[in-house]
Amino acid sequence: MKLALLAAFIAAMSAVNTATSTEDVDAAWSDFKLKYGKEYRSLYQETVSKAIFAENFNTIVEHNKLYGQGLVTYSLTINKFADLSHEEFRNTFNGYKKRASDEGNVVVVDFVPDQKIEIPDEFDWRTRGAVTPVKEQGRCGSCWAFGAVRIFLIVQNLVDCTFEYGNDGCAGGNMNVAFEYVHNNDGIDSEEHYPYEGKNGTCRYEVSANVTSTKGYGNIATGNEEHLKAAIATVGPIAVGMDASAKVIIFYEKGVYYNSLCTNIEELLDHAVLAVGYGSENGVDYWIIKNSWGTDWGDDGYIKVARNQDNNCGVATAASYPLNY
Ligand SMILES: *[C@@H]1O[C@H](CO)[C@@H](O)[C@H](O)[C@H]1NC(C)=O
Ligand SMILES: *[C@@H]1O[C@H](CO)[C@@H](O)[C@H](O)[C@H]1NC(C)=O
Repeated sequence: MKLALLAAFIAAMSAVNTATSTEDVDAAWSDFKLKYGKEYRSLYQETVSKAIFAENFNTIVEHNKLYGQGLVTYSLTINKFADLSHEEFRNTFNGYKKRASDEGNVVVVDFVPDQKIEIPDEFDWRTRGAVTPVKEQGRCGSCWAFGAVRIFLIVQNLVDCTFEYGNDGCAGGNMNVAFEYVHNNDGIDSEEHYPYEGKNGTCRYEVSANVTSTKGYGNIATGNEEHLKAAIATVGPIAVGMDASAKVIIFYEKGVYYNSLCTNIEELLDHAVLAVGYGSENGVDYWIIKNSWGTDWGDDGYIKVARNQDNNCGVATAASYPLNY
């Protein structure tokens, strides 16, 4: 009895410094391991992973207190990434490379909104059947390829075949480079023929399985959120880069992600995603962003990112789309 009281007292004291007690962490850790079927190679490995988990758990609990007080516009949750350190996550899951200067023999156009078309205040391609299901890139920094192919999701073909164009496969790439490859190759294979593997491979493109091509790509004026909005509503889903370098975005649950520490400078963007719509909630404007971290991440695989707040996290910095798709 005395011991139990002492334990409770110690737990309460340590809770003064951190948001979470040892009991909270132990319970959450058990739930986490069970839910995601986590097994660790050794006791040592598990101890290390649990320490990382405890830190992430604390971040999530602290953040959600602010959310409960209405001080931030998005909430966080424990997910399958909760036993990864921030560095480990970033090295594995982010892979956006800055665009090279536009060159080569592809057609490159600057997107100009059609003044005659009235742009709606809200728009969502998911309700119009133009968006394929959310995929999972796995332990491969191939987000750039997921952002590049919207209607045809033929990522492995792009991972394997664009090294000579300057992309680095699982280590990162740029979607305009992918569009250039598809143009020069005059084709890309079907997903059935070239399924996703999540690792660097040798190029196995076969013209007989070719499903589509592009004559080039259109660029949205850098940082122009009005143009990006118009492009989404009149062209289709748009491939965009963003700053996903913050630890909190890994545990995003719902609401509008706004991060005052985010950059919108292209050199510093680290993740490629797809903007499939836009809207507002509780007076906060957002982009609807399709991610490639699985459907069990975020809001069914999607995240709402702040819009009209000085291009927060750079969604409108490096936006482009393939021509005539
Ligand atoms: C894929 O290839 C790139 C570029 O050569 C390399 O940097 C990266 O480590 C490779 N990734 C994997 C998972 O093999
Ligand atoms: C691949 O398919 C696209 C779309 O049908 C077509 O425009 C292109 O010419 C094809 N490429 C080759 C090499 O046949």
